[in-house]
Amino acid sequence: MSTSPTGSNRGNGRLQGKVAIVTGAASGIGAASARHLAREGARVVCTDTDEASGQAVAAQVVQAGGDAFFIAHDVVEENQWERVIQATLARYGGLHVLVNNAGIGPAGGAGPIETKSLANWRRTLSVDLDSVFLGCKHGIAAIRDTTRESGSGSIINVSSIAGLIGLPNAADYSAAKGGVRLLTKAAALECAAAGYRIRVNSVHPGYIDTPMVRGGLERRAAISGVDPAQAETALIALHPIGRLGVADEIAQTILFLASDESSFTTGAEMVVDGGYCAR
Ligand SMILES: NC(=O)c1ccc[n+]([C@@H]2O[C@H](COP(=O)([O-])OP(=O)(O)OC[C@H]3O[C@@H](n4cnc5c(N)ncnc54)[C@H](O)[C@@H]3O)[C@@H](O)[C@H]2O)c1
Repeated sequence: MSTSPTGSNRGNGRLQGKVAIVTGAASGIGAASARHLAREGARVVCTDTDEASGQAVAAQVVQAGGDAFFIAHDVVEENQWERVIQATLARYGGLHVLVNNAGIGPAGGAGPIETKSLANWRRTLSVDLDSVFLGCKHGIAAIRDTTRESGSGSIINVSSIAGLIGLPNAADYSAAKGGVRLLTKAAALECAAAGYRIRVNSVHPGYIDTPMVRGGLERRAAISGVDPAQAETALIALHPIGRLGVADEIAQTILFLASDESSFTTGAEMVVDGGYCAR
């Protein structure tokens, strides 16, 4: 954790005065993002379907001196988006930053297209892509109104390396994350053309050591009989940097995109993958 010039762990106020919503904040990249944004002065609305863990993350933020609260939120439900935005405006009086992070791996588990059920395909597309559409739809309106006179806003959509290259046995996940990449660019262009003070960017992590990846490794090991440690070694070998990423490394990029330090960055895809896509 970085420290301020005074030596405290309260950061450097890079998001002072901003209000942020982070979806999927109960775990992994979302939890790390909520902590980083709050440390830099943002007031943070943590949302997730996992109420117990989401409450715990918000409580940790408050304990560390930040300002946050949790709202139960299923990102595929439009009426719940409306409720989350209303609660944010009621509590904090505006919205500047939206991190569309909640997501799942391939519904029903990884596997070839021939064996994927339509229901599982639709579930992945719904949680990983429809959610980002709904977030942009309701987030843009709220951020536009907040920043009409002054200030600026930022929407950060968490895609994946699977949104840049095809991932075998995860066609649904790749399709959803590829959709997030271009939805992001379309939204960025719309906001710029309308004169809104809102930038929209996507983030493309490589494999990050979170419960999503740990669960996938364990499932793969159970199905194929491969030792989980061997499966992890094979995954690490895909990253030239020689290890998996950690959630804080993605949160740092999200923090940069949320702050005014990235004021000329919109419609961009930030690849944070230990070199996965470089070869
Ligand atoms: N971990 C990786 O290697 C990796 C790589 C690339 C992209 N990503 C993306 O990063 C994001 C976060 O992943 P993570 O690794 O932190 O996973 P995670 O499983 O640790 O956290 C995901 C969170 O999203 C929540 N969530 C799931 N479905 C939801 C729904 N319908 N409504 C609201 N919340 C819901 C979960 O409860 C969980 O708290 C996802 O979009 C994922 O696709 C992760």
